[in-house]
Amino acid sequence: MLSGMAAGAGLVMIGQSRAASAAQTGTGRAWWKEAVIYEIYPRSFKDSNGDGIGDLPGILEKLPYIRDLGVDTIWLAPIFQSPNRDNGYDISDYRAIMPEFGTMDDFERLMAKASSLGIRIIMDLVVNHTSDQHPWFQKSRASKDSPYRDYYIWRDSAQGHPPNNWPSVWGGSAWAFEPETASSYLHLFSPQQPDLNWDNPAVREEVFSIMKFWLDKGVSGFRMDVITMISKMPSFRDMTPEELKAPEYVYAAGPHLHTYLREMNDRVLSHYDVMTVGEAYGMHAQDIPLFTDSARRELDMVFAFDIVHVDRQGWRKVAWPLSKLKEIYAAAGRPRSPDSWNTVFLDNHDQPRAVSRFGNDSAPFREVSAKAIGTMLLTQCGTPFIYQGEELGMTNLPFDGLDDFEDVQVPLQWDTRVKRQGVDPDAFLESLKGLGRDNARSPMQWDASRHAGFTTAEKPWYRVNPNYTEINAQDCVSNAGSVYHYFRDLIALRRKYPALIYGTYQDQDPDHSAVFFYSRQLESSKILILINMSDRGFTYDTPLLARASLLLSNMRHRGVTQDVTWLAPWEARVYRA
Ligand code: GLC
Ligand code: CA
Repeated sequence: MLSGMAAGAGLVMIGQSRAASAAQTGTGRAWWKEAVIYEIYPRSFKDSNGDGIGDLPGILEKLPYIRDLGVDTIWLAPIFQSPNRDNGYDISDYRAIMPEFGTMDDFERLMAKASSLGIRIIMDLVVNHTSDQHPWFQKSRASKDSPYRDYYIWRDSAQGHPPNNWPSVWGGSAWAFEPETASSYLHLFSPQQPDLNWDNPAVREEVFSIMKFWLDKGVSGFRMDVITMISKMPSFRDMTPEELKAPEYVYAAGPHLHTYLREMNDRVLSHYDVMTVGEAYGMHAQDIPLFTDSARRELDMVFAFDIVHVDRQGWRKVAWPLSKLKEIYAAAGRPRSPDSWNTVFLDNHDQPRAVSRFGNDSAPFREVSAKAIGTMLLTQCGTPFIYQGEELGMTNLPFDGLDDFEDVQVPLQWDTRVKRQGVDPDAFLESLKGLGRDNARSPMQWDASRHAGFTTAEKPWYRVNPNYTEINAQDCVSNAGSVYHYFRDLIALRRKYPALIYGTYQDQDPDHSAVFFYSRQLESSKILILINMSDRGFTYDTPLLARASLLLSNMRHRGVTQDVTWLAPWEARVYRA
């Protein structure tokens, strides 16, 4: 257990049991509600030993940078042993550190240093599936009589025919045929990621024991990878044509999901003061309280996917109107249940870069729009998650063609969409450029030196965005008007005004097509947030601002005036009413 933490206003001391802090959750306060969380994708964060791959000592070296931003909690994307078909989301040993990232000693040093800086660490729990290289699966596939056979989901497959029509969420059949035992195993993701059989109590025991292993090392919780998919439909019937359009909703509708999460909570989570955030892939917004209502004792928060879908139709990237974003935040701002809590995120390792997607990454607007959407991220209802580089306004990566993508999902989707369904290759590639996960996975841009200061190797594991000479941390940190410093000020503001954390939400102008104007209110403390979400400037006058005082603005960042009724492109202001 860590001790003596200063983070999160210290409302709930680490080490205290969940039971003792329960009174502070409810509709009350909790450290994870007040946290600002920073996601690290270790492979691309900082390479310390010149092999071109980010690693744990690299993260340790950069902890002061993260702390200076004002962040108090880090989510580490998977750091466990893995053959890296899906960059660590295919785990072959849950209790070992990926050798490329370092050793268990490195991890313990990282934890100790983080703790001394008041930073908590949460880990990625990837237990819907393992790697096909995991010893459980090796034994499971070897023989029908192995005690591990039932750790995974096998069905007899006559002549290699898949047992049903279920697709992998990335394309192709969700079944892989193994001629040795004339049967197929289920993989909702790539064939190298076989799904675990959660209906087997031994599997659940294994998972709980893995969780305890890391919690006992002092980690402060878990982000749970595709946790919605752990319970499978018992009949394994074919999906209907309608269901096949969005199979993730079928995969997330397993009958025992909530039972298993409750069991996990009772057996493990309730014994520690930790936070959990589940990836709610395939979950309808109205079902989210089933996870997050604290009375149900399942998870603390989830990542809802409405924001992810806002500019997608199937594989296609589409325009998103501001009205859609407003609806999403308005719904999130209406308490969905007596006590449930949200997350707010625009970016992560599976998404394109926020500024390229929700702002405008062209030269005149990049910085100002990165600050504008950052204002939204840090003032909406819920615990905010920042993805590495978002605080610099890092942008999408240029792609010339299919070969520039590294993501395991790309060839699988290409096969399905272009080769089998006949989607126009150019149109598909265009969408992929805008939506592809590789956009977020290029190395962190630390400075203007070769490879952005990410590595001293000849070649980093993946391409550095060529714009690193203009967009990098060193430059941002030394420039008081940068995106980094604006994020820093926003985080400080959030800590200063509890209304920004616990306040109610009200959209003040739901019908405006370019202005996002909303309030957060806690008792008599009221904060107004005004953002021009467009490339044009215009006059915007509202009596609500007459007696309000400006706390922060991305135009006159640090120099404060307020008489203006002119809203410049992507101007954002935060007022105290
Ligand atoms: C989640 C992860 C993603 C991974 C997938 C399969 O969506 O965020 O990166 O590929 O699960 O584990
Ligand atoms: Ca390295």
